[in-house]
Amino acid sequence: LRKVLIIADPGVDDAFAIMYALLHPEIEVVGIVAEYGNVSQEIALRNTAYLLQLANKSDIPMIKGADKPLTGTNPEFFFDIHGAHGLGEIIPGVQTPDHERFQRVYELIHTYGKDLTIINLSRLTSLALTYIQSESNIDKAGDVYVMGGAFFVPGNRTPIAEANIYGDPQAAKIVAAHGENVTFVPLNISNRAVIPLDTIKKVAVENDTPFSKIIYPIMDYYSNQYESIIPGIDGAPLHDVTLFSYLMNPKDYKVVERQVSVNAIGPSKGLTYADFRPAPDFIEDYPMHNIIIDFNREAFIKDFVRIMTS
Ligand code: BDR
Ligand code: CA
Repeated sequence: LRKVLIIADPGVDDAFAIMYALLHPEIEVVGIVAEYGNVSQEIALRNTAYLLQLANKSDIPMIKGADKPLTGTNPEFFFDIHGAHGLGEIIPGVQTPDHERFQRVYELIHTYGKDLTIINLSRLTSLALTYIQSESNIDKAGDVYVMGGAFFVPGNRTPIAEANIYGDPQAAKIVAAHGENVTFVPLNISNRAVIPLDTIKKVAVENDTPFSKIIYPIMDYYSNQYESIIPGIDGAPLHDVTLFSYLMNPKDYKVVERQVSVNAIGPSKGLTYADFRPAPDFIEDYPMHNIIIDFNREAFIKDFVRIMTS
């Protein structure tokens, strides 16, 4: 079993990624860090608790992640895209649950070491903290996957910046400069990870899983909101699901190894940069990262349907 620690801000596409991970027979979720991003940290925590409750897996540790960027500025939230409570029109009827302090992440790294995969689906604030704090021993953990970046394609938060990077560019800069085993899954592919609404309807209606009752309503809301941004779109991109899909089906994805830098301030705040020439320049004493630049969308949809109906 693939042991994963998820850092997320559910949020509709995060919720789908969490559901996918909880349903996947070869994934063991060993903890979920709820962080601000699409919604506040508190709402992210409550929505995580709700998903775990539906799955009857409330024993999975829920960990309190960051509630604002490293600079301490107030975060902006995206209730318009994800709904007033982060899950479309669903109001999770759960109390703010028991949760663990962030130190629990360090314990998980200690316990699982290289067997622990970290999947970051939100701003990079909590993840950056693990690089700043030596007691975290992040270098002893396994691979780190980050949903973030827009490499020479339009951003979604600004014309050049993707939301997870833009939301805390200082944190993203730390991860890019200090991470040794990081894979970036950027908008270059995640924007194309669109599941048609009809497919979602089938997944929800024809199958009985712990999540059947929420799948269609949350996607319906989310895709209606996307329609106002991208007229004519059928469904909406499930950005965060692509990380798990790549993790479990690497053959369907194209990866390049490059150095990644992030602009943290000024007009190009949130820009992610890499040299994609066939013979790129490299700078010394700076890590290499994997960047996913292409994928097989049909295979992505097929795998999504298979797991979500299992
Ligand atoms: C990313 O930003 C968040 O809004 C989504 O959940 C996803 O992680 C897409 O840019
Ligand atoms: Ca997210």
